[in-house]
Amino acid sequence: MRSIGVAAWAFCLAMPGLAAGLPEDAALDRSADIKTLVPRVVVNSGRLEWEPHKRDLSAWPTLSHLDRRATIRPQQAAYSAPLNGDAARGRAIAMDPARGNCIACHTLPGEDWPGSVGHLLLGYKRQGHADAYVYQQIYDRRVLNPNTVMPPFGAFGVLSDQDIRDLVAYVQSLD
Ligand code: HEC
Repeated sequence: MRSIGVAAWAFCLAMPGLAAGLPEDAALDRSADIKTLVPRVVVNSGRLEWEPHKRDLSAWPTLSHLDRRATIRPQQAAYSAPLNGDAARGRAIAMDPARGNCIACHTLPGEDWPGSVGHLLLGYKRQGHADAYVYQQIYDRRVLNPNTVMPPFGAFGVLSDQDIRDLVAYVQSLD
């Protein structure tokens, strides 16, 4: 069955258990291994072609008004010191469009085309935040601001505990 109309939230990976109750207009092909489809414009034809996405995003909330599935509630992170983060690895995650993709929203050193939705993270070290606070920012910012647009990387299972520790080490090293 193939239907069109809605893109799943691009930052999110599949989570088991929520796929039931998908809206009828979700862009997916249930018979395919990778269920989620993405549109591609067929030049000068007025048509779109639908191709499999790299990942199955069908477990994630869509932009459809028909989508009545509940999203995961804001979650307090269970952070424990010491940080044990690797800043170089954190930087790689921040720049990787398939992982943190922090650069899509934040200005970070060494990238000419950063996003401007989030804070400038240059000089973040000088703000002197505790690691636990920064960990919570990345794990689930909604605890601090329910209306944030920053994806809850930890609560949604997009990044692991170690990934977030590496990112904390990275942003805390920016001077
Ligand atoms: C979709 C856009 C978006 C993405 C992607 C994003 N952020 Fe954010 N981030 C924001 C916005 C907007 C804020 C401002 C706070 C708010 O919304 O409440 C923020 C806030 C922050 C803060 C807190 C700044 C402070 O006040 O101390 C940190 C740290 C941060 N982001 C790090 C990251 C990291 C690391 C990543 C990648 C894993 C990331 N962000 C990905 C949009 C984004």
